[in-house]
Amino acid sequence: MKRGNILIPTVLTFVIGVPLAWFFWRAPIVPALASAQGGKADFLLRLVFAIASLVFGLVAAFLGYSLVAFRRNPNDTEDGPPIHGHTTLEIVWTVVPLIVILSVGALGTKVMYDVARAQPNELTVKVVGFQWAWTFEYPAYGIVTGELVLPVEQPIAFEVTSTDVVHSFWVPEFRMKIDAIPGRVNVIRHTPVREGEFKVRCAEMCGTGHAAMLAPVRVVSGTEFLQWVNEQTGAVVGLSEAAQRGKDLASQYGCIGCHSVDGAPGVGPTWKGLYGSTRELADGTTVTADDEYLYKAIVDPGSQIVAGFQNIMPATFDEQLTDEQIRDIIEYIKTLK
Ligand code: CUA
Repeated sequence: MKRGNILIPTVLTFVIGVPLAWFFWRAPIVPALASAQGGKADFLLRLVFAIASLVFGLVAAFLGYSLVAFRRNPNDTEDGPPIHGHTTLEIVWTVVPLIVILSVGALGTKVMYDVARAQPNELTVKVVGFQWAWTFEYPAYGIVTGELVLPVEQPIAFEVTSTDVVHSFWVPEFRMKIDAIPGRVNVIRHTPVREGEFKVRCAEMCGTGHAAMLAPVRVVSGTEFLQWVNEQTGAVVGLSEAAQRGKDLASQYGCIGCHSVDGAPGVGPTWKGLYGSTRELADGTTVTADDEYLYKAIVDPGSQIVAGFQNIMPATFDEQLTDEQIRDIIEYIKTLK
């Protein structure tokens, strides 16, 4: 019977495992972090990768070493020696993984509670996902937008729901995501720690427009945020009654989730400067965006797709909105010059 030298695979374990663990601990395998809570998830992810790297090193080293050291001689035809187990070894390979897994489980539970814990002075943002866009409501300011603007270092509680199918609210730079489920409100907390521009992505396959279900995220300074709030609430002044009703309907029915009102690019064409402009349609024809065009665009969106956009707007507004409500929305669009 051949006798191996346990020192060789032991050393090999670390030669393979340590650089791999180091790589996963340091490597930019996720985008730069922008949420305080996300940091805890990052730590857990890297720790699990590092432990898994060492386990991989252990298995690969002993397997590789055995293949070479215990290979059969060409002339050796006898059976291998019978083995009756090794109690110490069996205890070790049961107890050690048990301790490792229980520790990771306990740490994971702690992190789960930590990231879900309510923070002082939270700002509530109600997130609604629908096929195929997002709207964000700030109850404290009476604002509903299609763009998520957040003050840096401000704890946010996102109350997430959906109006149709299951979506998932996810900003990769914030790390953790949460399902948006019809008839139910799920809460996820993030404290943005870095100013910058990110994107909300839908992380649940939800139909043909799933990949386009994006919304811009801007993390800004506290002063900039207050400026933004003033702009949003100030814009209401000077609207006719009909236009004001139209503006409220546009928030309520999620129009602004896809159609920006400030010229920003979105899933659908912006409403800024839309009224009276010349539209180039996907079929090559052009048309002027007058009342008649806008009415048709709302009740039968597939009939006149603007060049460069996809046909993903729901064709349900004909039933959801009254004629008068549609006129109000058009009145609102007229004010967005
Ligand atoms: Cu909503 Cu995918």
